Amino acid sequence: MSKLWLIISASLALLLSFASVPLLNNNLTGFFNAFSIDKLGADLIVYNGTIYTSDDSLLYAESMAIRYGRIIRVGNYSSIKDLAGPGCRELNLKGKIVVPGFIDSHVHLIFGGLQMARVELREVKTKDQFVNKVKEAVKNMKQGSWLLGGGWNNDFWGGELPMASWIDDITPHNPVWLSRMDGHMGLANTYALKVAGIFNYTNEPEGGVIVKSNDNEPTGLLIDSAMKLILSCIPEVSVEERREALLRASNLALMRGVTTVVDMGRYFPGLAAETSWEDYSDVYTWADSFGKMLIRVCLFFPMETWARLHEHLNEAGPNISEKIYFGGLKAFADGSLGSNSALFHEPYVGEPDNFGLEVADMKGLHSMIVSADKAGLQVTVHAIGDKANSLLLDMYASVVSRNGIRDRRFRIEHAQHLAPGTASRFGEQAVVASVQPDHMLDDADSAIKKIGFERAEKGSYLFQSLLAGGATLAFGSDWPVADINPLRSMRTAIKRTPPGWEHPWAPSECMNLDDALKAHTIWAAYSCFLDKDIGSLSPGKLADFVVVTADSWEDFTTEGSVSVEATYVGGNRAFP
Ligand SMILES: *[C@@H]1O[C@H](CO)[C@@H](O)[C@H](O)[C@H]1NC(C)=O
Ligand SMILES: *[C@@H]1O[C@H](CO)[C@@H](O)[C@H](O)[C@H]1NC(C)=O
Ligand SMILES: *[C@@H]1O[C@H](CO)[C@@H](O)[C@H](O)[C@H]1NC(C)=O
Ligand SMILES: *[C@@H]1O[C@H](CO)[C@@H](O)[C@H](O)[C@H]1NC(C)=O
Ligand SMILES: *[C@@H]1O[C@H](CO)[C@@H](O)[C@H](O)[C@H]1NC(C)=O
Ligand SMILES: [Zn+2]
Repeated sequence: MSKLWLIISASLALLLSFASVPLLNNNLTGFFNAFSIDKLGADLIVYNGTIYTSDDSLLYAESMAIRYGRIIRVGNYSSIKDLAGPGCRELNLKGKIVVPGFIDSHVHLIFGGLQMARVELREVKTKDQFVNKVKEAVKNMKQGSWLLGGGWNNDFWGGELPMASWIDDITPHNPVWLSRMDGHMGLANTYALKVAGIFNYTNEPEGGVIVKSNDNEPTGLLIDSAMKLILSCIPEVSVEERREALLRASNLALMRGVTTVVDMGRYFPGLAAETSWEDYSDVYTWADSFGKMLIRVCLFFPMETWARLHEHLNEAGPNISEKIYFGGLKAFADGSLGSNSALFHEPYVGEPDNFGLEVADMKGLHSMIVSADKAGLQVTVHAIGDKANSLLLDMYASVVSRNGIRDRRFRIEHAQHLAPGTASRFGEQAVVASVQPDHMLDDADSAIKKIGFERAEKGSYLFQSLLAGGATLAFGSDWPVADINPLRSMRTAIKRTPPGWEHPWAPSECMNLDDALKAHTIWAAYSCFLDKDIGSLSPGKLADFVVVTADSWEDFTTEGSVSVEATYVGGNRAFP
């Protein structure tokens, strides 16, 4: 009895002692903010620089105060300095620029980390280099073990596709599988074709192509779901290798200022849905429980496993820890431009019968989206060609009319080529365009070749049109398809000038810096339902930020003149 009374009176005293702080009209938010700020103090104060917050209510500030990994106040140094608590650290920016930690809205994190340790063909510019890289890599390998790698881009050497015969002589004792940079095509050597049982008359799986020569012999190239013929023969990567891949990939992300990634998991249609779930249970939860989650991840899972995600969310909520979030579901509607499998209304130039591939059974996809959406899950679908995008927008509209209006944040991954009039539909239908600016560096020349100048110019990477139509843009890299590098990706969106070009590609689609920054921060956070926790440097949010070497905002648009100096996750320096 007396104890209870003590507690009550103590609470009353506490309440009264705060009557002087801005405790307006029983506003509890105000009360608790005042409590945490004034009584506990900050443990890190960042000052003497320019902080770009991505928060329109205070877009620039010179200082911010952080406690327990969250921002407690942003503003002038005079309004921040008194918040310092005992043992408070200070970070003097000395005039430098700080931006919110970048969010990469589309990566394949563990696959990317694995590729980092394999044959890396991304920089290969000629057939000879290609062959030499493979020769070098196979040298020290045991006979019979798989040589894996990829990242090649045949557009760099004029478009000729590689063939098994390029490398058969130098790889007589090892099966080889080298995926194209877009992940929608790969090259097997003849040894690997044999292992997989791919011969002259092997049937093509639905949604895939076994490329064959004129006399009906497989050349070694497999497109989209035909790749699974080979992939199912490659021995599984061990759990240890996948864990190392996560650490390698996370360190690369931090080096580039990325503090959160959206991991789209499965890298192409046809790969077992199970892999994404195994990455969650064997790799991410392992890393989390041993303090090895260096960045935050938002996980997307294959669409057909929607019921499983639903179950997990019911049990644990979206918020597995401060570092791991459950996002939503991902499916594929088409292939890629690089592999001539993106789905268009008009055929590819020089291939009058090829309109691309519908890699999903659209009816089945529709019914899965209806169910997943009804269960309250977020849905995104890969669509590159203009027809795939139109079909998907129709499908989303039909799901909304069935399940009713709600804050569902449907997304389309890539939204790369759009038919006339389609860009504005994203805004009208509140569909997020999750786009990868750096793809245009690799793609511009080949897009013009493949779909013709007119279609490419008017319909590709329509960032400004999407924005003008009211769409939310979320930037990403699709790493390892393109390098993980937000500073470069923002510059690409602003400049739109592929290598060797003198003028921007469709100059009216060039973005401004402010929008580009938001697309890699707050809009990206919104696009995966994490905008309450990250995406801007606002009071209450996690203190994820990047110190960049820029002397001015101009530097952001000049190649090579700005880099990441330090990356902070939850108020702690994570790089260097
Ligand atoms: C309560 O206070 C917070 C912080 O001062 C403010 O952002 C919020 O708008 C207030 N809410 C109401 C209902 O007054
Ligand atoms: C912050 O500083 C700027 C310039 O130094 C000044 O114009 C502004 O009034 C200050 N704001 C506050 C809230 O003190
Ligand atoms: C703030 O940074 C400038 C460099 O921009 C430096 O000259 C100055 O000494 C710094 N001020 C403080 C208080 O450290
Ligand atoms: C496949 O076709 C090629 C060319 O016609 C022929 O040389 C080869 O023997 C055939 N292979 C098999 C396994 O039938
Ligand atoms: C997730 O959980 C952590 C800790 O449990 C919490 O700090 C954070 O605010 C939560 N985030 C969301 C989006 O609920
Ligand atoms: Zn992808």
